[in-house]
Amino acid sequence: MKILVIGGGGREYGIAKRLSEDPRVDKLYVLPGNGGISEFAECFDVKATDLDGVRDFVREHPVDFAVVTPDDPLALGMADLLRGMGVPCFGPSKAAARIEASKIFSKNLMMKYSIPTAKAESFDSFAAASLYIAMAKYPVVVKADGLALGKGVFICRNHHEAVNALRELMEDRLFGASGERVLVEEFLEGPEVTVLAFTDGRTIKPMVASMDHKTAGEGGTGPNTGGMGVIAPNPFYTEEAAAECMEKIFLPTIRAMEEEGCPFTGCLYFGLMLTKDGPKVIEYNCRFGDPEAQTVLPLLESNLLDAMLATEEGTLDRTPVVLSNRAACCVVLASGGYPGKYEKGKPITIGKLGEGVHIVHAGTKKTEDGFVTAGGRVLNVIAAADSLKEAVAAAYEGVLKVGFDGMYVRRDIGRAALDYLDEKKAYDLLRRS
Ligand code: AMP
Ligand code: GLY
Repeated sequence: MKILVIGGGGREYGIAKRLSEDPRVDKLYVLPGNGGISEFAECFDVKATDLDGVRDFVREHPVDFAVVTPDDPLALGMADLLRGMGVPCFGPSKAAARIEASKIFSKNLMMKYSIPTAKAESFDSFAAASLYIAMAKYPVVVKADGLALGKGVFICRNHHEAVNALRELMEDRLFGASGERVLVEEFLEGPEVTVLAFTDGRTIKPMVASMDHKTAGEGGTGPNTGGMGVIAPNPFYTEEAAAECMEKIFLPTIRAMEEEGCPFTGCLYFGLMLTKDGPKVIEYNCRFGDPEAQTVLPLLESNLLDAMLATEEGTLDRTPVVLSNRAACCVVLASGGYPGKYEKGKPITIGKLGEGVHIVHAGTKKTEDGFVTAGGRVLNVIAAADSLKEAVAAAYEGVLKVGFDGMYVRRDIGRAALDYLDEKKAYDLLRRS
């Protein structure tokens, strides 16, 4: 099979690498890919959002299947374009991608179909939003309606912060048209969980639940990033929580999308909060998360290509999605300054890694003298082991083997999860004694 993967970050490295190991795949193209991906796939310099460029590429290089994973090409209709050219595709249509591309669309969907989420009001004028926040109960969360690189969410502790958030989004247009409309929603509390699930629009099969670490600083401090590290499984996500999510969130969501005439196919990302009133949806994404994908794929025992093909063929009910009971940890190695300004072109050294540990390239370029940095999130060190504790330790041991000038790493990936497991163990002992 000839396969095309669109994107060029760590997520696409993880997905493309796994596909490259499938004996049925004899040609693998990645647009634009990155330095590390070019080691095992053919990369071409076509931007993931360049619809015309992708159309021209596919005319010259026919493929049997395409995998589209970044949010912006999906929101622009890349999957529709490819299907229109007769290429079956992993990834939702433009209409279904609204579940991520418009937070107001997804909030209305959840309200209409009684899917648990934070209460919210939407506004398309600064004046009306200002009036609302003058009387709101704090904290509140102000969100840009459209895509904003994960930075369009403001947790506001008081009226002053909420006014600033509204001004930045609606008047200064920090994220352009994405801030034309905003949501002001209730602040929820509880552990956060990410669940990625394959779906063909009727059947939904989740992968191992994970925990992202979104802020740049340790202990949830500093600006939000695309994600600085992930652990899986997420210990807060119990079997009972999983059953409740399936019944009240996952199945109702795909049924709602079908009902609305835009069935969702591909990977649906549930950003959940386990509140004292039960699990609630914080956000949907229309794709695999980054770095969640490269962390949970090593815990997928069954075949990835089969699951992807099944989402398009509508045969997911007959396709196994088998999960490992091991654990995994991903630590992101970022350029100093990320998510703000950072320098590129720093030479990278990688030493010998321990068993069960591997490197994923997220923002690297290959030169004659070796790999150099080429993005904010440069590499991921990923470890899989029998327990979460071992996976975290192995990932950090791996981090010590990698170096580049200005490298920044959060040192607390997995700490909250391990502390919780320790506390739980102590509590269980107490209860038994
Ligand atoms: P989002 O881009 O919607 O995932 O939001 C980014 C982060 O903001 C989430 O991972 C949460 O930590 C936080 N957040 C978003 N919405 C809420 C909410 N209603 N209550 C509390 N925290 C939230
Ligand atoms: N890691 C969060 C995301 O991919 O949206």
